Amino acid sequence: MTLLRSIAEIRVHVASARRLGLTIGLVPTMGALHEGHGALIRRAREETGFVVVTIFVNPTQFDRPEDLQKYPRDLDADVAFCERLGVDAVFAPEAGEMYPGDLHQKMPLASVEVAGVSSRLEGEFRPGHFRGVATVVAKLFNIVGADRAYFGEKDAQQLAVIQTMVADLNFSLTIVPVPTVREPDGLAMSSRNERLTPEQRRAAPALYQALCEGERLIRSGTRSAVQIKQIVTAQLSRNPMFRVQYLEVVDPGTFAPVTQIAGAVRFMAAIWLGEVRLIDNILVLLP
Ligand code: PAJ
Repeated sequence: MTLLRSIAEIRVHVASARRLGLTIGLVPTMGALHEGHGALIRRAREETGFVVVTIFVNPTQFDRPEDLQKYPRDLDADVAFCERLGVDAVFAPEAGEMYPGDLHQKMPLASVEVAGVSSRLEGEFRPGHFRGVATVVAKLFNIVGADRAYFGEKDAQQLAVIQTMVADLNFSLTIVPVPTVREPDGLAMSSRNERLTPEQRRAAPALYQALCEGERLIRSGTRSAVQIKQIVTAQLSRNPMFRVQYLEVVDPGTFAPVTQIAGAVRFMAAIWLGEVRLIDNILVLLP
């Protein structure tokens, strides 16, 4: 496995893999790798001949400076993790390599804005976040030139932003969605979980349990999104450690809120647990 820090080097490595006739799989990450990332990497390993993992804590997608500053970073551990999973190349550029010039410039002059889906939920509470994500992912797609790129359903709205960008701007690669990987107690794996205190960590699975309660209500016949949100918010609010930011029943394609449930919906939540913001979602398919 090779660790590459420059755009020129990763391009050379991918080009030689291509000359060997290998298909290229790309897994974009911000590092602090865990088994959620592992699922994406394993899937890429099964489906493509040359797997590239990118590790880049992208400054342009952080709406809160302290979140960027506190984001966990451990390149040595991440490289070892990738090595164990049979990754071919890790691309871990410095910020100056991705955004040359003024490092304090929040965004390059050219950027990618995906209207509609970016404006709701995460987009509403984290202004500029999806523009930062879409822009860095477009850059990574152009740098690596992959055939397939892997994204987790844990960040379902991000996945939809990327799928829309790829469709509307004619990127010639396939986006592969991968189901959310959870801890045994149901908590969705996330690099941010590392920042929870032991007490917060014990409380955190209540987020997934609340989403499951919402699903149970839908399956037992409740069709009013307002009613479901009220019941589930009340359940979460029993624990004073939680501050619910949003809890929404949405159309899984557009992420627009649904009032009357019919067919498939995605149940989305974001909560604050102390200083840590957790998100989770589940897809509910009605027969
Ligand atoms: P990061 O949070 O590191 O996540 C990288 C990828 O791993 C994303 O596609 C995310 O959805 C997926 N992932 C994270 N936790 C997961 C879990 N528990 N189960 C399944 N997949 C999971 O998302 C980003 O980085 C960045 O926004 C990025 C796309 C790299 C752009 O900077």
